[in-house]
Amino acid sequence: MNKDQLLLKEAQKVLKQNDRGDWTVPAGDLYPHQWLWDSCFIAIGLRHLDIQRAQTELTSLLRGQWSNGMLPNIIFSDGREFHRDRELWRSYVNPYAPDNVATSGITQPPMLAEAVLRVGEKLKNPQRRSWYQSVFVELVRYHEWLYNERDPHKEGLILLLHPYESGLDNSPPWISELRKHSMPWWVVAVERLRLDSFVNLVRHDTRHIPPGQRMSNIEAMAYWAAIRRLRRKAYNSEALLPRSLFAVQDLAFNCILIRANSCLKEISQIIGRELPAELVQKIETTEKALEQLWDDTTGQYYSRSFVSHKLIEEPTVATLLPLYAGKISKARAEHLAGLLKRRKWFATNWPVPSVPLCSSYFDPIKYWQGPTWVNTNWLIIEGLKNYGFDQEAAALRQKTLDLVAKNGMNPVRGKKSAISADSHITNRTSSGMNEYFNPINGHPVGAPNFSWTAALTIDLLKQP
Ligand code: GLC
Repeated sequence: MNKDQLLLKEAQKVLKQNDRGDWTVPAGDLYPHQWLWDSCFIAIGLRHLDIQRAQTELTSLLRGQWSNGMLPNIIFSDGREFHRDRELWRSYVNPYAPDNVATSGITQPPMLAEAVLRVGEKLKNPQRRSWYQSVFVELVRYHEWLYNERDPHKEGLILLLHPYESGLDNSPPWISELRKHSMPWWVVAVERLRLDSFVNLVRHDTRHIPPGQRMSNIEAMAYWAAIRRLRRKAYNSEALLPRSLFAVQDLAFNCILIRANSCLKEISQIIGRELPAELVQKIETTEKALEQLWDDTTGQYYSRSFVSHKLIEEPTVATLLPLYAGKISKARAEHLAGLLKRRKWFATNWPVPSVPLCSSYFDPIKYWQGPTWVNTNWLIIEGLKNYGFDQEAAALRQKTLDLVAKNGMNPVRGKKSAISADSHITNRTSSGMNEYFNPINGHPVGAPNFSWTAALTIDLLKQP
């Protein structure tokens, strides 16, 4: 077996291990439920192995869809051991939540249209058309929900009410908003009195992953308080917005939406069904509105506070995602691609770091504040291809595969991995398919055997 075949086999093993029948957990111990954008990335990989299974990965997401069109970021597993997770969210407080499925009350980046389109590409007609037909109505309803519920001033930019909705959970713009406007008094008190280490007693994630690789206890408490605020208002944005200072027009989310809208249009053309005229008009508004997130002085795109309408000037990997959206000028795209070559920005040994090296937030092992993630690399590779930067895309594809392979070609089953000597890494076996990676030395961090790393590795391997 050559190197690529070995890598493929390893990735398949991870997906198999995390398979729960019709859907896949992101990682067994740490994330035991179904997550929205995870399943989209997973289906993009699975389509190369088992097209029907890729389809059920996506249709399983629809069982959690609310009757107002919302797709939740988490659909909870049954089982008494997960009672606490379900009770934190209590989706049943909202009249639109489904009866027999427990979900969260917020959404996640709208990758679904892209995943549906990609899965369909692997089918021949008429199966392709019937696949698109079978999910079209639900997809349209989701995009309509985003605009109706999360764009109250009809600006074309969707606002998010919790950092988890961004998918880049503790990315610097969210942390900076949190610290400026939304820190509950009791969290501030816990921080001042340095009592935060007690939180470790109730945190589930830090039992599996070293605390230095996750969000801080203060951030975790504030995020938990934000969930409770949403729950108190039954996840109703209209009721929440007048009181919430924590509302962000998130850059990554809106870039993904622009691309998802294009995918939705493509699907509608293939099956000969028109999109509602109002939605078509909103789609155009979003494409134009992206320019409002550009800052000429620093040459960056940023997220924007919905409340103050000020850009949150904290640079992150999201600044590169307008490439993926595909609606910016070639000159702008060249500027963004250039950032990938700049040493103080994104040109690390193992790119692309989630936060540029020049940011005061940069930490090579801390969750979304420095590490390299395979899903954002995949989005950037797609973005580079959109603008004809084929060499750059091929180089990043190879580097990403090397990063995963470097850590996983000789997995030591049942013994402690050789890499565990690194103080940043837990003592455990590793397939190399980790949740994220240190962009300086390429060491794996976060959860081992992570599904989207495996799935997107498969997709990158299969790319020409
Ligand atoms: C983390 C990530 C989020 C992902 C989830 C499940 O919370 O930040 O993007 O969906 O894990 O893998």
